[in-house]
Amino acid sequence: MGISINPLSNAIGSEILGADLSQPVSSEDFSAINSAMKKSLVVVFRGQKLEPNNLLSAVHLFGDTMEQHLTDTLMEGHPEIAVLDSREMPPDKEGKIIPFGGRDWHTDHTNHEIPPKFTALYAIKLPASGGDTSFANMHLAFDSLPSSEKVKLSSLETVNKIEDFAYIDEAAREKFGQLPIHPLIRTHPDTGRKAIYVHPGKLEKLVGMEPAESQQLIQNLLEKVLTPDICYRHKWKEGDLLLCDNRAVLHLAHHDYDLKEGRIMHRILIKGERPV
Ligand code: SIN
Repeated sequence: MGISINPLSNAIGSEILGADLSQPVSSEDFSAINSAMKKSLVVVFRGQKLEPNNLLSAVHLFGDTMEQHLTDTLMEGHPEIAVLDSREMPPDKEGKIIPFGGRDWHTDHTNHEIPPKFTALYAIKLPASGGDTSFANMHLAFDSLPSSEKVKLSSLETVNKIEDFAYIDEAAREKFGQLPIHPLIRTHPDTGRKAIYVHPGKLEKLVGMEPAESQQLIQNLLEKVLTPDICYRHKWKEGDLLLCDNRAVLHLAHHDYDLKEGRIMHRILIKGERPV
């Protein structure tokens, strides 16, 4: 295929050019892609033209897909794909419309006992401007803390809930509302590096602490560590297929555009392992 791989920032992210994921990928190219993923935690394949079945085959190169609880968004005939369309967002209980992934910096689906290792996002339709997604390297976030704080945080565990949104139906709530407990600091199974691992919107509380106190601790922590030098803001192009490693990355979808204009992502989650 003759791919080339370029860094997207000093902290996180690689761009992969010259790959056509609708075609078989050579073992040499796949090994280079895997190394880039391990090293930079986010990879973006530019210029893909993938029908849903090609998209699924491409994503399957990285592992098995897992069920998503966004029941209303799942594609007919391909329920592994969630269609995140800004025009279809229902208002929340306060009447606000905030698109998927736009509320806070987060990692995906922490309400699952076995959360996803990767999230794949395929850009189908973009607004004329805005609608970027930011990514943060949470290994670097952890590394930036003083040793005493690293020790203290390493003893904390999160209790994780499913959010109370209109697009999550009762069946999904029943199936995925089990309040699993995960370590706040997890160890990456491939590299042994530690990362801050949290979804504030899904945080019921920290074990042994009250919900409000827990949220405050996490908000203060994220405010301190999410500095520009550990982040990368991705300006999407249609046809970008991006994979991010949820085990060591938080992301945030910016909603600085008219949601009615339409921003559509196809999202697939890839099975991970129990966080430790
Ligand atoms: C998400 O957080 O899963 C969606 C991110 C995006 O649409 O950029």
